[in-house]
Amino acid sequence: MQNTALKLNARPVGLPTKDIFDLVSEELPMLEEGQVLIKTHMLSIDPAMRGWMNEGRSYIRPVRIGETMRALGAGQVVATKSEILALGDWVSGTTGVQQYAILPDTDCVKLDTTKLPVEAYLGTLGMSGLTAYFGLLDTGQPKAGETVLVSGAAGAVGAVAGQIAKIKGCRVVGIAGGPEKCNYVVNSLGFDACVDYKSASFKKDLKEALPAGIDVFYDNVGGEILDLALVVINFKARIVICGAISQYNATTPWGPKNYLSLLVNRARMEGIVVFDNAPNYKSAVQEMAGWIAEGKLTTKAYVVEAPLADFNDVLLKLFKSENTGKLIMKLVE
Ligand SMILES: NC(=O)c1ccc[n+]([C@@H]2O[C@H](COP(=O)([O-])OP(=O)(O)OC[C@H]3O[C@@H](n4cnc5c(N)ncnc54)[C@H](OP(=O)(O)O)[C@@H]3O)[C@@H](O)[C@H]2O)c1
Repeated sequence: MQNTALKLNARPVGLPTKDIFDLVSEELPMLEEGQVLIKTHMLSIDPAMRGWMNEGRSYIRPVRIGETMRALGAGQVVATKSEILALGDWVSGTTGVQQYAILPDTDCVKLDTTKLPVEAYLGTLGMSGLTAYFGLLDTGQPKAGETVLVSGAAGAVGAVAGQIAKIKGCRVVGIAGGPEKCNYVVNSLGFDACVDYKSASFKKDLKEALPAGIDVFYDNVGGEILDLALVVINFKARIVICGAISQYNATTPWGPKNYLSLLVNRARMEGIVVFDNAPNYKSAVQEMAGWIAEGKLTTKAYVVEAPLADFNDVLLKLFKSENTGKLIMKLVE
């Protein structure tokens, strides 16, 4: 059986371009015991993909040159040699940017699509939501009444982090690009305030939105926004370094200039990687599914229908701020 896969053929410098990928047709191997063949329907499009294309030491090995581009995805089982997954089951896993994926059944998560759409399992109940859950609760350790600032607030991770902070009784302030996204963050996600970082009055607006300072900063953006937040943090504040999307394509990344505020405030700044929490994913998904059922947590997907060949165009939407909510690529032939 033939498969079509998108292979990385060169490492990007700055923003990735379409020509660093090749669309390749290849014969699929036979299924082995315990494996399933999945027809990929949707791909989770993540800022981390940009980092996975880089050479060098990271929390996960880089995608090799000539290898299928790594991606989390969801699809249906179309052939099975598994005792736990049947034909037609919906699953998620590391499918890669390809039409079909062969995975061991132990690397797949079976999805219950009767209560929630598949998209929710790639967003709020997938890597994005889990990152927010563990990053905020374990590393941010918010307490009721504290002020939590979230950058990238209208995005997949930020939206969930802020909503969980509200569930925990915090005052939550978001940062997002443009008035439309800020309205969404306050009126649909229930944050207490949201500041537009693209506005000329951003620095002043940010200070005004944080009269009691910052106890927890959940940072998805890095760069200048991290520096501005550092000067507003409180005594014993926690800064969660979840990501730094403003820096992923920078050839000379911006390091924090105001880091001595950590010393002055006896504060801490700590990086997180969602994969470290894999043993606890199941209980986190259960708790978040409960919040969704109770109407305390909303889940929003920004779905783009496109063929595999357009993967890079869809990925770039993250860096052009086009998505509100979880960016998902729905594969069309
Ligand atoms: N540590 C982990 O384990 C882990 C796991 C998953 C994700 N992450 C990180 O979490 C962050 C958010 O990921 P996500 O999947 O939720 O993406 P996302 O927020 O849904 O999408 C990206 C958003 O980032 C904002 N953005 C893009 N370029 C920017 C810039 N130069 N300055 C400021 N904002 C910019 C845009 O929103 P605006 O319109 O507001 O600009 C864009 O819509 C990323 O940094 C990602 O790497 C970390």
